[in-house]
Amino acid sequence: MKQSVVLITGASRGIGEALALALLSRGDCVVGLSRGVSEETIAHERFMALNVDLSSLAEVEMAMHRLFETLTPDGLDSITLINNAAALAPLAPIEACAANDIASHLHVSTAAPTVLTSLFLHKTAEWPVPRTVAIMTSGFAGIPAASMSLYCASKAFLNMFVRCVREEQRLSPRPARVIAIDPGMAETDMQVFARSRQDESFPMGALLRQAHDAGQVLAPRDVAARIVRLLDEREADEQPVLRV
Ligand SMILES: NC(=O)c1ccc[n+]([C@@H]2O[C@H](COP(=O)([O-])OP(=O)(O)OC[C@H]3O[C@@H](n4cnc5c(N)ncnc54)[C@H](OP(=O)(O)O)[C@@H]3O)[C@@H](O)[C@H]2O)c1
Repeated sequence: MKQSVVLITGASRGIGEALALALLSRGDCVVGLSRGVSEETIAHERFMALNVDLSSLAEVEMAMHRLFETLTPDGLDSITLINNAAALAPLAPIEACAANDIASHLHVSTAAPTVLTSLFLHKTAEWPVPRTVAIMTSGFAGIPAASMSLYCASKAFLNMFVRCVREEQRLSPRPARVIAIDPGMAETDMQVFARSRQDESFPMGALLRQAHDAGQVLAPRDVAARIVRLLDEREADEQPVLRV
């Protein structure tokens, strides 16, 4: 039987872990790239964990080169890269952010998904199977928010990156599907941390608490189920940014 392989960054927690579990349960092979690992996924025979700190581009490159030494298109039904991992910190006015923290944020949230997308498309360019790159974005790509300049700007960067790479793929003889996915609000470490911040320099905290109290924050497994449906659907006039 042919196998679908899905590479997911940040599969150790939150939406990424829930996505990995949803895809494993329907028979896909999942490769998780993160620093930690989820006990539920690692117990699965079709899950492979790659220990990668996405703030190090050297580690990102090495992990992809190693992975593609063993991966071939033989027996594959499809291959997908889901750039899910992102940083939220530093959550502070930009003048209060240390240079190292700014650089680390940008590496994890913009440089790593960019480099992973580049390596993935390069290494699979000749593979005769459907290829998909999905990048997790956020409604904050279009909402300027105090203390969230890095997060909002990183997501806006990713949305434009996706739109440009889609244009490139249109010119390719073997185009890959390239999409951004806005998962909406999910109850994860990232969401809980943002909601817990009560200081005046972070007015979004109050809005996130209101959304939580109004029941608008979904369980990661429900968000993951919707993302899997979006990955499976493909409409002729598909938009670059899909919302769950
Ligand atoms: N939760 C929401 O409400 C929400 C809303 C809109 C968009 N999103 C987006 O959805 C995606 C997932 O969010 P989430 O809420 O599930 O986040 P999360 O709970 O904070 O999990 C983040 C994941 O990213 C990984 N990660 C972070 N820094 C890393 C690093 N330096 N190297 C390797 N992996 C790293 C973490 O793994 P390790 O710590 O094990 O390395 C973890 O698996 C993000 O892109 C986020 O921006 C989330």
